[in-house]
Parts: sequence; structure tokens; C-alpha cells
Amino acid sequence: MVKVKYLGHACFQFDDGSYKVLVDPFLSGNPLAAASAEEVEADYIFVTHGHGDHIGDALAIAKRTKAVICTTVDLADAMMQDPDLEVVTGNIGGTIAFPFGSAKFFQAIHGSGAAGTVSCGFVFEIGGKKIYHAGDTALMMDMQLLEEEKLDAALLPIGDFYTMGPKDAIRAAQFIKAGTVIPMHYSTFPYITQDPQQFVDALKEKGLGGMVLQPGETAEI
Ligand code: NI
Ligand code: MN
Repeated sequence: MVKVKYLGHACFQFDDGSYKVLVDPFLSGNPLAAASAEEVEADYIFVTHGHGDHIGDALAIAKRTKAVICTTVDLADAMMQDPDLEVVTGNIGGTIAFPFGSAKFFQAIHGSGAAGTVSCGFVFEIGGKKIYHAGDTALMMDMQLLEEEKLDAALLPIGDFYTMGPKDAIRAAQFIKAGTVIPMHYSTFPYITQDPQQFVDALKEKGLGGMVLQPGETAEI
């Protein structure tokens, strides 16, 4: 079992009872943030790419909590050159084992905020569950590969404008076939405003599981 807490935008905290894993902690300057960068807890921080709404407060939180940051080699080279940080780096297709389980770097179609770097998503194994955090991405056929991961949950962007919108995210969910889909990356800013319940209702019409987490809410997966 793993507790999945939505902190707003693309930020989630997974808690298996022993470790707290934070993903894309954009809290400062996030009008929907459900925690502050000064108080959020983390043992590991995963960063999908270098845009400010993803790398966010990662460095400051890592310094305060001594959390280990995990991201791509190139993004670490470009944006995390700091002797006070402990950074574990991998790259697309690779899986890294951690005390809480593992994380696999999965491709994403998106810019990444620093020259020579790529954007990614992650497939996490934590608390005996598998969770895909898509990061920022367009719909891609590669998501069909995720079906065989037998995911318990998929965290998918639905905001449109910079990422998949709801229609493409439904197609993504049809490819992925996760136990449940939790929408993210919407309504933080006016131009990515979406109705997450409408998205989840549309998933259910296709026979797929989904749930809306409001910022600050936790689901047990
Ligand atoms: Ni982005
Ligand atoms: Mn983004």
C-alpha cells in the first residue's frame, strides 16, 4: 500500500510508511499548492524536467531535508551543480533501485527547460504498487508499452496548451490501462483550466478507472 498525496499541479508525494517520495515539487508561486516548500517532507525528490513548474523548489527542499534528488544526467549537469546536493542520475529506459523500491525513466514528448536535456516521466514501484507519473508530455504511441507494466495508477496531465488535453489523455489512459488514472497539471493557471471530474466521468464511460484528487487530498493505492 502506498499513500498518494496530490500537492497541486504535477506535484505528488508518495508515502509507503517508511519513505516519502516527492515528484516535481513546484510549491512556491503555485496558487494551488497544498504544502509549502519550507515544511514539506521528503526522502527522495524526482524531477521530470527543468521547467520552473516542475523543478520548482526541488533544490531548496533537498538542502533542507537532505533528500536525494533523482533526475536525468543532463538536467543534473545543467541545473544541479551544487556540492550540497546528493543527486542520483539516470536516463530514459533505465531503472534505478531505491530503498523504497525502484524508478524507471520513461520517455516524454516535451521541452525540458535547459539546452541538451530531455524531459521524462517515471514508473515507480513503491509499497508493492506501480505508479506512472507522466511528467509533461504529449500523447504518444509509446504509452502502449506501459500496458504490460500492469500499473496500479497513472498520473496524467490534462491541462492542454503545454501538454495533453483531456481528449488525448483519455486515449493515453486507453493505451496504459492502469487501475486508476489521477489527472494533474490543470487549472493552476487560467490557460490550462479543465474540469477534472468531467475527465474522470469520460474515463468511466470507456470502462477505465479514475479519481480526482483535490490539492491536499490523499488516496491509498
Ligand atoms: Ni514543462
Ligand atoms: Mn509543466
